[in-house]
Amino acid sequence: MEPDLTSILRCPISQQPLRRLSPEQQTRISRLTGEGRLRHRDGTGVTERYEAGFVSEDGRYFYPVVDDIVFLLPDGAIVLDEASSRSVHHERIGHFKKEVRDFYEKIGWQRQADGTFTDAASWEDLRPVSAQYRHRCHLRVTRHLPASGRYLLDAASGPIQYDEYLEYSAQYDRRICVDVSLRALREAHRRLGRRGVYLLADITHLPLRDDCVDAAVSLHTVYHVPADEQERALNELHRVLKPGGTTVVVYSWGSGAPLMRVAFFPFRLARILHNLLRRRSSRSPAGAPTIYFHCHDRAWFASRSWPFGLEMRTWRSCSVPFLRLYVHRWLLGRPLLALVYWLEERLPHWAGRLGQYPMLIFRKHEALGETLTPVGAIGTPEHAQTTER
Ligand SMILES: C[S@@+](CC[C@H](N)C(=O)[O-])C[C@H]1O[C@@H](n2cnc3c(N)ncnc32)[C@H](O)[C@@H]1O
Repeated sequence: MEPDLTSILRCPISQQPLRRLSPEQQTRISRLTGEGRLRHRDGTGVTERYEAGFVSEDGRYFYPVVDDIVFLLPDGAIVLDEASSRSVHHERIGHFKKEVRDFYEKIGWQRQADGTFTDAASWEDLRPVSAQYRHRCHLRVTRHLPASGRYLLDAASGPIQYDEYLEYSAQYDRRICVDVSLRALREAHRRLGRRGVYLLADITHLPLRDDCVDAAVSLHTVYHVPADEQERALNELHRVLKPGGTTVVVYSWGSGAPLMRVAFFPFRLARILHNLLRRRSSRSPAGAPTIYFHCHDRAWFASRSWPFGLEMRTWRSCSVPFLRLYVHRWLLGRPLLALVYWLEERLPHWAGRLGQYPMLIFRKHEALGETLTPVGAIGTPEHAQTTER
């Protein structure tokens, strides 16, 4: 059965419900487009004629649908009323968001000769020696999600690039894929077809109603959101959850991950000495592309007033540079990673605090009055229980 998107979508600007475009509205939009009188909210003119889409309940904004993808970015909204059209030129995507979006649109989601995406080739260790470790870490996410439901939100889904990602929504009616990259959503559509809902949207302004998804994941993206908007992104992921639902966010401690700092200490020291002796400044190695990211530390998470209890467990403690440097078949790489995984399973909160990638897990409470984890109580102690399936 086709999902009724009007029951879950809302206008990302006015937060009003969205209605399907009526034949009368379509005729009017088509006429205004022909006369060159329609503008997007960022001031650019509308030239394409759209057959389908959604209009905000107050009739101010139109969001077209093309090839099953709903265009819901605030700066791309088509302005329908006179008053809003006078302020169109003020709304433009921020510099860092644009940098990340453009990167994924033009480079990150391009396929390499072997079929992998540039994103994975640049920032993942795809060698067979680490395959089992990667696979098992991916599946960790599944344990914390409700087993089944109507909607699983994948906030910044990309193209759903790893097979394990499909597991998360295997028992859900629909996976809602949200991304700012059109290319990502086209690839995701190829992968999921009618089992997906595809929204070109910003995770800091989710175009979804409150309490409408059973579970949400956001993997390797929140740290690409501008530093001062990450709190908002996490709160949005909580807002759209149904009571009783769970969100899992895979985050990174960046260059501050204590275990990785220790592991790389000899190399950092050697580089500093090398640079001193040669009187050269330290530079990051060429090769991998660079795009904006900002990894907040644990103190930042502890200092915010979250409307939910936030648990931190390990997703994976080894960074990609660590794997590439230390893990090799001839150095007993497979048994070494099996041991690391075993330790992570025994000490999930400790590894989440000290390793490279924590999983941030939060649930929406069923009823008001239920005790929330106290503000800042992140990194629940090892003996704390979570509901796992
Ligand atoms: C590192 S990729 C991760 C993709 C996917 N979650 C994965 O793990 O393979 C980051 C993705 O986030 C998207 N993205 C970045 N900022 C976003 C935002 N503010 N709203 C929605 N998507 C965003 C990018 O277009 C890109 O597809």
